[in-house]
Amino acid sequence: MFSNGAPHGSRLQSSPHDGTAPSSSSNNNNSTLSTASTLPSASSSSSSSSRLSQISSHIMGSTAGASVFTTAQVAQAPEDPLFGLMRAYRQDSSDKKVDLGIGAYRDDNAKPWILPVVQKADAILHNDPNLDHEYLPISGLANFTAAAQKLILGADSPAIQENRATSLQTISGTGAVHLGALFLAKFHPRRPTVYLSNPTWANHNQIFTNVGLAIDKYPYFSAQTKGLDIDGMLSALHAAPAGSIIVLHACAHNPTGVDPTQDQWKQIASVIRERGHFPFFDCAYQGFASGDLARDAWAIRYFVQQGFETCVAQSFAKNFGLYGERAGAFHFVSAAGPDAATANRNIASQLAILQRSEISNPPAYGSRIASIVLNDPALYAQWEQDLKTMSGRIIEMRRGLQQRLEAKGTPGSWNHITSQIGMFSFTGLNEQQVQTLREKWHIYMTKNGRISMAGLNTHNIDYFAEALDQTVRETS
Ligand SMILES: Cc1ncc(COP(=O)(O)O)c(C=O)c1O
Repeated sequence: MFSNGAPHGSRLQSSPHDGTAPSSSSNNNNSTLSTASTLPSASSSSSSSSRLSQISSHIMGSTAGASVFTTAQVAQAPEDPLFGLMRAYRQDSSDKKVDLGIGAYRDDNAKPWILPVVQKADAILHNDPNLDHEYLPISGLANFTAAAQKLILGADSPAIQENRATSLQTISGTGAVHLGALFLAKFHPRRPTVYLSNPTWANHNQIFTNVGLAIDKYPYFSAQTKGLDIDGMLSALHAAPAGSIIVLHACAHNPTGVDPTQDQWKQIASVIRERGHFPFFDCAYQGFASGDLARDAWAIRYFVQQGFETCVAQSFAKNFGLYGERAGAFHFVSAAGPDAATANRNIASQLAILQRSEISNPPAYGSRIASIVLNDPALYAQWEQDLKTMSGRIIEMRRGLQQRLEAKGTPGSWNHITSQIGMFSFTGLNEQQVQTLREKWHIYMTKNGRISMAGLNTHNIDYFAEALDQTVRETS
């Protein structure tokens, strides 16, 4: 209506209200059009443009045209390394190219895989006559969050039985980590430092610093053993100031594929308890890692059974193949105690306020799909099979790669390929080797030598093993 920013009262065009009806040619209900008739004709175009700029600067104020957000103020951000890698892969015209950077499951033909159970749920959704496009509640689809909570904590969790767990639907796992970070930044009385594993999923750094929390690292990966540096981790957790926030990958650690054993989790829990730290679980691969949903949630369930106050970011991107649908949940578990249920209710109410200002209402499609599957025993059983298909193919690729490298006698030891778990393997390749693999062999992976096992298949595994073998020989 006020297309030139002029208020109603200042419009120049005559209107029915002042008794001079507009002519039919200018009768297009625009408040500004007849302004042109008050301006100089086209024959004096240069003076007309300077007059126009005078009018414009009069309307806009004297700062018009001066940018606050200049190049000096806003520098060009570096490209996200993963997305840069994907772009380089797409631009490579070689028919031999192999994408091992991708953080999504691929089938044996290197194609995205729609889980058969998701196809079924989609058909159910499609044929539901009651489906509409209304907003979901702020905290999300109730059937989804309740089922997601049981899935991660276990249906018999003491936290659920004692009403001290609250769950909100989020924008996948990233949104869940963010909501948790925001809550901690706002409500933690001391805003302690957040300790992240070294290395970790790169986005953790940004998510926690973006909400104003300080971050630090604890040792995690041993370059020597290509396994867990449990001693380094435990002593760093010991040395961290009491009450720190410790971010833990619940399973299938990204990027290393190295998980603590159950015994090591117990040791980690014991230090966290002793130092009064707050464990923050990030779980992006439940069921995708081992193929067993309970096993992949073991660490979280153990901590909850031990009575810890904790929170969990849960993603359904990988285990349902719902990457772009952004289905996830954030769970806050209050420590056991007489006040726990009330405290948890208060926390739920504050999380809802945070969610309201961030996304208002979470997206419906992905959570509806997951909810249909999680709440139907037959579909749930099929989902477990689909999980086994994905995790099984990845485990097979791990075995196949290790066998090939060992058969070739590739310098170094390669048993870490099978002892690591989940989507990724931290190969131990250095930056120069990664570059050679890319330039000479058209094989794409992140600079830190992480490969996505899902990018390997029966058609390219021999080629990759050969490339890796030759590259390691040439450079060692
Ligand atoms: C450790 C970790 N946390 C969280 C996520 C979040 O993923 P999404 O937001 O797609 O669920 C990922 C995905 O790669 C991850 O690896």
